[in-house]
Amino acid sequence: MSDSKTREIFVTGLKNAHAMENQALSIMKPQVKRIENYPDIAARLEEHIRETEGQIGRLEEILTSLAEDNSSLKDAALSFTGSMAALGHTVAGDEILKNSMANFAFENFEIAAYKSLITIAELVDTRLSCAPRGES
Ligand SMILES: [Fe+2]
Repeated sequence: MSDSKTREIFVTGLKNAHAMENQALSIMKPQVKRIENYPDIAARLEEHIRETEGQIGRLEEILTSLAEDNSSLKDAALSFTGSMAALGHTVAGDEILKNSMANFAFENFEIAAYKSLITIAELVDTRLSCAPRGES
């Protein structure tokens, strides 16, 4: 695979991760507003909302360093679906349990997305470090 194709896949992955993190915010923010009886969970969700906002900032820094922007369309589409997912659990008698299971699954999805980005970044890095001087 050419370096330009690898870069294109990496940038697409970064844009997808940016949209994924915005989707996470659109899920967690409505959830935390509805928590009344589980202060520990509410505090942890508030903490993870701040972590997620930081992650969005880091992704934007990386995209900017590559002269790329996030995809507003992907961000909006996934944020909408995230809001709908959070809304779907509000009618459940076990909302806190359903939210916890969904959040656990979502976090594992995030881990998989970042592991794939790390693999691609290492591939690009290896190619650059193996290239003769003047080539990259
Ligand atoms: Fe997360």
